[in-house]
Amino acid sequence: MTRHPVTLCGVELQGPVLNGSGTFDAIAARRAFGDELLEKFPFDCFVSKTITIAPRQGNPPPRLWETPAGMINSIGLPNKGLNGFLAGDLPQLAELPVPLCVSVMGFSHDELAQLVAAVSSRDEVALIELNVSCPNVETGTIMGADPSETARLLERLRPLTEKPLIVKLTPNATDPPAVAKAAEEAGADAVSLINTLRGMALHPDGSGRPWLGAGTGGVSGPAVRAIALAQVASVSQAVAIPVIGMGGIESGRDAADFLSAGASAIAVGTASFRDPAAGSRIGAELAADFGQERGLFAAGAH
Ligand SMILES: Cc1cc2nc3c(=O)[nH]c(=O)nc-3n(C[C@H](O)[C@H](O)[C@H](O)COP(=O)(O)O)c2cc1C
Repeated sequence: MTRHPVTLCGVELQGPVLNGSGTFDAIAARRAFGDELLEKFPFDCFVSKTITIAPRQGNPPPRLWETPAGMINSIGLPNKGLNGFLAGDLPQLAELPVPLCVSVMGFSHDELAQLVAAVSSRDEVALIELNVSCPNVETGTIMGADPSETARLLERLRPLTEKPLIVKLTPNATDPPAVAKAAEEAGADAVSLINTLRGMALHPDGSGRPWLGAGTGGVSGPAVRAIALAQVASVSQAVAIPVIGMGGIESGRDAADFLSAGASAIAVGTASFRDPAAGSRIGAELAADFGQERGLFAAGAH
């Protein structure tokens, strides 16, 4: 198969397909598929699930609800915490045949600074993604929903690392292009979008109670694709740094649409739940059917 290498923030990738953070457990997949996973790894860069300083149990169950075109999740970022990740997961993720991006989230600028400094000191890590979809406990503002809050955060984190910093934008913001621009001006190397959109489902027993243990969750999958495409297009117009587009991508044609809208790379999330090899299929369809046709790979690098 012909691949189209891309350079993302100076990191060479064999193609433009990443996974959405939290949607592909490479360690569990290795247990299930053995070394075949490494031979046929579905992504060109692996993004870890988001880690926090302290271990988290995640949200109370139920945590998933299937919608007519996707799902709502309220997983709540269960993870082993920074030390558990560095000791337990990182050595295993370092064996993957593609560059590694570690996703981090903190409830204050100090927490994020600690995470970025610790992750940045590890050679196994090529890129760092900042999941800014959570509130700053000091200000109550969702870090990635407000341009000035995002700028202040980046000003704090930028001096701590020479590794590329990707800001993962939340679609639950009034003006995502303004947030992207603030991130760029404060030193971000790329932005990725979209994260999930806030949504809710009621219990099928008709009681009117929310189904999800946490009450609400994040909507993903084909239902959000049109919204994601519009946000990727408007953010791509607003910034010169690379944009990683995601939200309901299920085929090479969807991926080509996001690249046509201005993304430099794309990520596959919910589609991997139905088919763990979706990333490979989407990459192959993109290379075979759409990339050439639309001249998407002419420049080769971004
Ligand atoms: C079950 C699940 C878990 C997720 N966990 C994370 C996470 O840990 N960190 C993060 O930044 N995004 C997380 N996301 C959001 C995805 O990375 C992605 O931004 C979103 O689902 C849109 O892409 P998709 O429609 O292809 O799934 C999660 C999404 C799902 C469905």
